[in-house]
Amino acid sequence: MSNGIELHNVTKRYGSDANAPLAVKGISFEVPEGTLTTILGPSGCGKTTTLRMIAGLESPSFGSIIMGGRDVTTLGPADRNVSMMFQSYALFPHMNVIENVSYGLKMSGVRKNEAMARARDALKGVGLVGFDERLPSELSGGQQQRVALARALVLEPAVLLFDEPLSNLDARLRREMREEIRSLQQRLGLTVAYVTHDQSEALAVSDQIIVMDHGVIAQRGTPQQLYGHPESEFVAGFMGEAMVFPAVAQPEGRVELGPLTLPLRYDIAPGVVKVAVRPEAWQIGAAVGLPATLRKAAYLGSVYEYAFDTALGSVFVVSADLSRPLTAGAQTTLSLAMHGVSVVPAAA
Ligand SMILES: Nc1ncnc2c1ncn2[C@@H]1O[C@H](COP(=O)(O)OP(=O)(O)O)[C@@H](O)[C@H]1O
Ligand SMILES: [Mg+2]
Repeated sequence: MSNGIELHNVTKRYGSDANAPLAVKGISFEVPEGTLTTILGPSGCGKTTTLRMIAGLESPSFGSIIMGGRDVTTLGPADRNVSMMFQSYALFPHMNVIENVSYGLKMSGVRKNEAMARARDALKGVGLVGFDERLPSELSGGQQQRVALARALVLEPAVLLFDEPLSNLDARLRREMREEIRSLQQRLGLTVAYVTHDQSEALAVSDQIIVMDHGVIAQRGTPQQLYGHPESEFVAGFMGEAMVFPAVAQPEGRVELGPLTLPLRYDIAPGVVKVAVRPEAWQIGAAVGLPATLRKAAYLGSVYEYAFDTALGSVFVVSADLSRPLTAGAQTTLSLAMHGVSVVPAAA
């Protein structure tokens, strides 16, 4: 029996109209105890609905949710030992930092002195010391975020839920805070379900990623599995940049992409397939390969971005080789590395 979170065939239809579309369509997954799972997908795919069902803020239309080995499907949020942090983390504007963080403890009957001491500990845990008396309006966005995080942590929930917690922050703070959330999660061994639409955020913080599309799970796995071995065009495109080319799978499993031949893959049906290629998977200048003429080059500091004209059409390449930059008009060949190349069904 697991001490994490389990969803079994969880389905959600809002309202009572039996013809209304399903927001979540029979999904099953597990968040193992002490690990972080992100639910990743485009807007409207059912991420928030899923998280709110875990929190007990919405009830599933079908299916069950198990937490700590206990069926909590019909329990309200107060009976689940979960804490949720939202996109709009809404601190109480008229309360100072320490009051904001200790509020939940006081509400649940903890004496004032102890509540203050635990709130101070939580603030220290998120690296916010010396701001106890400030009002939210006197804090930066990142500091407010830390207060919200401390407020969620101070309740010592068995499960912590995040719904796009970083989307109001600028890019640098987002990176900093996501690292902080990840290290806090690992240090305290927290069980976390984390919703985001940002694939780089998901790759950076997760033990497991659940990619959702239109209310169903498109694929689940580790960041490496999802980025390196997407099973559909949707996941390949969503997990990072990828160009998708039509190709042909031969009966013996060989996949032909123009003049290029990809390694055998036996689990793919012969016929028309698609090949999703990450821009960094192309190798430039091999003895044999796809003839290519450079149309455009851009220097980005740590990499070059190239656009080539080829028999497969325009090909976008990211090269980390800064020593021999190509200039427009250069003729070369392109071949494919083992990493960053996925064969996916054409119908997907
Ligand atoms: N309270 C609600 N009532 C009716 N439909 C809703 C409600 N909340 C969300 N939906 C619908 O459910 C689907 C999934 O929404 P949501 O879970 O918020 O997606 P996400 O968080 O991935 O953007 C959407 O089609 C949305 O319009
Ligand atoms: Mg949402």
